[in-house]
Amino acid sequence: MSFRTPSVDYVEDVSPGSGALPPRAWYASSDAKSVSLNGSWRFRLSATADAEDDTFAEPGFDAGDWAEVTVPGHWVLQGHGSPVYTNHLYPFPVDPPHVPTENPTGDHLRVFDLPADWPADGGAVLRFDGVESCARVWLNGTDLGEFKGSRLPHEFAVGHLLKPSGNVLAVRVHQWSAGSYLEDQDQWWLPGIFRDVTLLHRPAGSALDFFVHASYDHVTGEGTLRVDSDVDGRVSVPELDIDVATGESVTVAVEPWTAETPRLYDGVLMTEGERVPLRVGFRTVVLEDGLIKVNGKAVLFKGVNRHEWHPVTGRALDLETMREDVLLMKRHNINAVRTSHYPPHPAFLDLCDEYGLWVIDECDLETHGFTEQDWRDNPVDDDRWTPALLDRAARMVERDKNHPSIVFWSLGNEAGTGRGLTAMAEWIHDRDPSRLVHYEGDWNCRDTDVYSRMYAFHDEVEKIGQGLDGGTHKRRELPFIQCEYAHAMGNGPGGLADYQELFEKYERLQGGFIWEWIDHGIQHPEFGYAYGGDFGEELHDGNFVCDGLVFPDRRPSPGLVEYKKVIEPVRIEGDPAGGTVRITNKQDFADLSALDFAWAYQVDGETVESGSLSVPPLAPGESADVKLPAPPANGPGGEAQWTVRALAAADTAWAPKGHVVAWGQVTVAERPVPCVTASAAPACGDGRITLGPAVFDARTGALRGVGGVEVSGLRLDVWRATTDNDDGAEWQSDTRYGVLWRTLGLHRMRHRLDGVELDGDALTVRTRVAPAAREVGLATVYRWVSDGDRLKLTVSVTPEGDWTVPLPRLGVRLGLPAADEVRWYGGGPGEAYPDTRTASMVGRWQSTVDELQTPYVRPQENGARSDVRWVEIGGLRIEGDPAFWFTARRWTTEQLDAARHRTDLTPGDTVWVNLDHGQHGIGSQSCGPGPLPRYFLRAEPAEFSFVISTAG
Ligand code: GAL
Repeated sequence: MSFRTPSVDYVEDVSPGSGALPPRAWYASSDAKSVSLNGSWRFRLSATADAEDDTFAEPGFDAGDWAEVTVPGHWVLQGHGSPVYTNHLYPFPVDPPHVPTENPTGDHLRVFDLPADWPADGGAVLRFDGVESCARVWLNGTDLGEFKGSRLPHEFAVGHLLKPSGNVLAVRVHQWSAGSYLEDQDQWWLPGIFRDVTLLHRPAGSALDFFVHASYDHVTGEGTLRVDSDVDGRVSVPELDIDVATGESVTVAVEPWTAETPRLYDGVLMTEGERVPLRVGFRTVVLEDGLIKVNGKAVLFKGVNRHEWHPVTGRALDLETMREDVLLMKRHNINAVRTSHYPPHPAFLDLCDEYGLWVIDECDLETHGFTEQDWRDNPVDDDRWTPALLDRAARMVERDKNHPSIVFWSLGNEAGTGRGLTAMAEWIHDRDPSRLVHYEGDWNCRDTDVYSRMYAFHDEVEKIGQGLDGGTHKRRELPFIQCEYAHAMGNGPGGLADYQELFEKYERLQGGFIWEWIDHGIQHPEFGYAYGGDFGEELHDGNFVCDGLVFPDRRPSPGLVEYKKVIEPVRIEGDPAGGTVRITNKQDFADLSALDFAWAYQVDGETVESGSLSVPPLAPGESADVKLPAPPANGPGGEAQWTVRALAAADTAWAPKGHVVAWGQVTVAERPVPCVTASAAPACGDGRITLGPAVFDARTGALRGVGGVEVSGLRLDVWRATTDNDDGAEWQSDTRYGVLWRTLGLHRMRHRLDGVELDGDALTVRTRVAPAAREVGLATVYRWVSDGDRLKLTVSVTPEGDWTVPLPRLGVRLGLPAADEVRWYGGGPGEAYPDTRTASMVGRWQSTVDELQTPYVRPQENGARSDVRWVEIGGLRIEGDPAFWFTARRWTTEQLDAARHRTDLTPGDTVWVNLDHGQHGIGSQSCGPGPLPRYFLRAEPAEFSFVISTAG
């Protein structure tokens, strides 16, 4: 018996690999045949890279007793081993280029036949679109080579090896390799063949590689097309009457491509051997006057960082999931994507071209873990690694160069600085001068065409906008973007509107990209969605991997709804003096002709009349004051608002007619303050005090019921289950209020009873609310009066001692024995907090208690509704003076605080209701600034009232 122990030296080799074809454009031929090799593959997992010899690659090998896995996929999500999550720490000792001996290695085997009509002539190429992290490939026993670069394509010439039937494709995949040092992104480590495997027929005379150059001259309105092709041929674009030879330029009048108006022209590249469909978008990207301009205009990026994610299949995404991402983005007014932190599946870029999104295409490169050793031995500053870096740059640029949506090439993410990055930038600038180069890690902008940062605080962003940030000469000449900001972890991000205001105020600020699109929760039988640590990882970063604007199942979070409102392409501002609304087109390219406008007049939140509003098709940047109709005559008195909406005038590729793009509201008559004339006197007897509809405990002054409705535990509440943003990131220790609050003991406040007093019309209960071991406290007085039917509670709070922290919340909480349906008049329909309330629309809303909950993957404070005038719940009607924040849930704040996963929360018998006078802001301190000072809930004297009655 022969036994060959294969050499696995390539695993730790810093070179890009061997045997693969040079990179080229990714395209689907119209007529050349292809065979998808996706599907079920035989699979064997070994603990080390060299545990098994390579006889499995030989024809005739019997893999009948092997397991099976689905390709594309990750074996750790298919029952073989488990995923590992770290943010920036390498999950193995840092000793480049060495990797651990324990190196899970998956042998994959697939036997396939060629279709009957597979042409006998020509060549063939075997393409892998993504394999993590290192693969060695054999076809019919012949070793084709090996490669690294997980999120990059690799092709092998295989025509000479193919047989009509029984082809044996063997792929050995190692989880860890030298390449892992270059792929230290903040995400799950997920080995496997996770993108498509395809066999492509290459007829004689087929196109190899080609580069579509399609520019737009905004002065003449003409586009110039030239397709450079390795193989000569002709290019036709019938709609433009273009029919030219490859390499030849042609200039014609065109409609340009922009993210707002993604005009594509169908064309064909015809070589002797095949026809390749082209989707041509004419646009020109330049750096001019210190600004990023497309087609002559500065653009404002309203972007998001997108990792590829699916809660079941990980980074193996099907086309429909990719489309869902794009549709969701478009429907939420997002106009740009950074493909953090690697080139996405190529089909995603087709969708960006088609639906219209500006793209920063990022190279698969991150060496963040070297920060732990002050960036010593960082591969990007070590010439031995430069060929691998250049290979990665080339594989990205060559694969994706024909997408009009891509305006920036990004060198990678968080890789420090070094000569290797400079080499990449030089190569890219030379290969594709028609786009700009991005990289955040180099604040001196040595290699980049934009000054890019992440998580810069508002005040610094403002300084940068004013050009007062200093920096190198080169940097001072460059525009600024935040390639990451507003960390969407858990409840938040707060402060979006404040950032947007800055972006719109200063020309140099060209917008930003929220971190990030989706929570990378993994569907799990016990936890619902698992995060770091749930698979027993020794080293992990917990739920830092769940920081998206959509939940793992792609349901929009309140953060996305807020972002949609903050970045809406039309601003609608009412004039409280009445009569008009100011409409501003905030787009960069499109006029308003694609939108209809509608008005509604609301009294006490109910629409009493509505109609359409005629708005001129304003050009980008233009505003108009549009007259509203006369307010409905003889309408009922009360609080009155105009709500004006901008709606899709017709079905679009991404939304149906009537889809709400933007809205604005203006209050023209204020709400009358609820008034209760104290006329019923409290009466004491039987250990009870009665006052109007209410019953109290005579000894404690605690409310027991209102009308027939039992009430328990009504008292002051200052605690909230700290959010990820309250808890903050570890490097921000002096302002992590979640931590400071807990240290102070705000989660275990004691309520001392100082007196229950009946004086005339009122029942007064005096208390002091304070944490053990501290001298600070809140003197709290509850004053109750009634007019016989309704009950009014006035709470007065006076801080005592030296309060050095804000309060999490300030209000009362109470328990109701049963409640399901909730109706309210105030902000809605979704969650809102002081710095996340832009999208909260005043109206009449209803929900169930369960639907009020926001399903953050790690449970935390959620679900508040803002500006609530009144709420009806559990048989009570509660009206506020002033308006209040309302929250209700079937568990206590303490239970919410203790839960690690949603599955830890079990509904109890009581519905706990919080009526808050104030909430502390949210911020995005889990990786960024905390709430701005104006959203602080300071410990200051406060007084607020609620009028309680039984709901009619
Ligand atoms: C950035 C990084 C992202 C992610 C984010 C925090 O530093 O580029 O990949 O880690 O922080 O969630």
